[in-house]
Amino acid sequence: MAADVRIGSMLRDISWRDFSALTPEEKGRHLMRDGVPEHVLLAQQFRRPDLERICGLATRIRKLSKDRPGRDFLTGLLSDRRAMLYFSQPSSRTFLSFCAACEILGLRLGEVRDTATSSEIKGESREDSVRTFSSYFDLIIMRTKEKGFAERTAWVLSHTDRPVPIINAGSGADQHPTQACLDIYTLQRSFENEGGIDGKHIVFCGDLARGRTVRSLAMLLRDYHDVRLSFVAPDHFQIGSDITDALSEAKISFQLADDLNPLVPEADAIYMTRIQDEWDEIGGKFQSVDVDRFSIQEHTLSRMKDTAVIMHPLPRREEIHPDVDRDPRAVYWRQVRNGMWVRTALIAMMFGCEGSINAEAARHSIV
Ligand code: NCD
Repeated sequence: MAADVRIGSMLRDISWRDFSALTPEEKGRHLMRDGVPEHVLLAQQFRRPDLERICGLATRIRKLSKDRPGRDFLTGLLSDRRAMLYFSQPSSRTFLSFCAACEILGLRLGEVRDTATSSEIKGESREDSVRTFSSYFDLIIMRTKEKGFAERTAWVLSHTDRPVPIINAGSGADQHPTQACLDIYTLQRSFENEGGIDGKHIVFCGDLARGRTVRSLAMLLRDYHDVRLSFVAPDHFQIGSDITDALSEAKISFQLADDLNPLVPEADAIYMTRIQDEWDEIGGKFQSVDVDRFSIQEHTLSRMKDTAVIMHPLPRREEIHPDVDRDPRAVYWRQVRNGMWVRTALIAMMFGCEGSINAEAARHSIV
């Protein structure tokens, strides 16, 4: 059974003014207790040992789920808890991934997707709405268009009598920490027989200015040895200086480029993203992209290493031709499934179920 955890007790010790003035890394230290997240808000809260622990647990959950007794064991773990999905920004895959993760652990679900049908329309602040909803639930998973809203909610709830953990399922164009964890899991599994993530050349391509998945993953990769990162985008979609500054500070070797083609033969992973034009003002900044320089077509495959992988957080557009899907190096569908296991692992950890899962796995000789 889940151990009782004191959620939010670390954020309780700091004022909002002080907390919001911290760097993401400093904020991260207020979110983790002994390697276990109290809230999942920022990629920067996870260091390599934390990631290895999350990935190990995800694997044990994945293996336990292979048979009926294992699945029954997992659904019994949190069948007395309820989770709310507060998704005020469009989502179907991440939404369903979290639904599935909660259901694997037996959590019951409630959802708010259209804030126009809530009292926000009556003038209630979003903060008040979420606080009200939190009264009925034990966990809130939220996706919002505003950067930082999940952080603010976590802090506000930590200062109430009934603190509830928050998972950020995507905040603005800024952070997508659970996607970054599942991307690490996918890279780790893909390079299991190739010496792991250390020493690999990872090429990111597409809308890197507003692609929150790339921003979050790049921050996690700082903890791996001798990785090389390449960011391929047209100038106006190139990765932000906050990320390149953080990479320079961590002494990670990286380069900016504006054509994917020359990098294809040397890449160990190519992480494609779509153009995020929902952030453009109507008739505003949208500029079309030269597909030849920023996409993977079937003919690209012959120039890739045999051991390389192609990733994508999905949804995709023309940046990966559907003919590429048949190639075993296209791992984006596996990445989706990995997301479900990693999210299950994170939720299990937050509710103190890690020990019981590890013990059950050991009973079945699962390492
Ligand atoms: C991404 C997102 O929402 O940031 N999708 C996802 O979570 N799987 C990427 C995107 O929308 O392009």
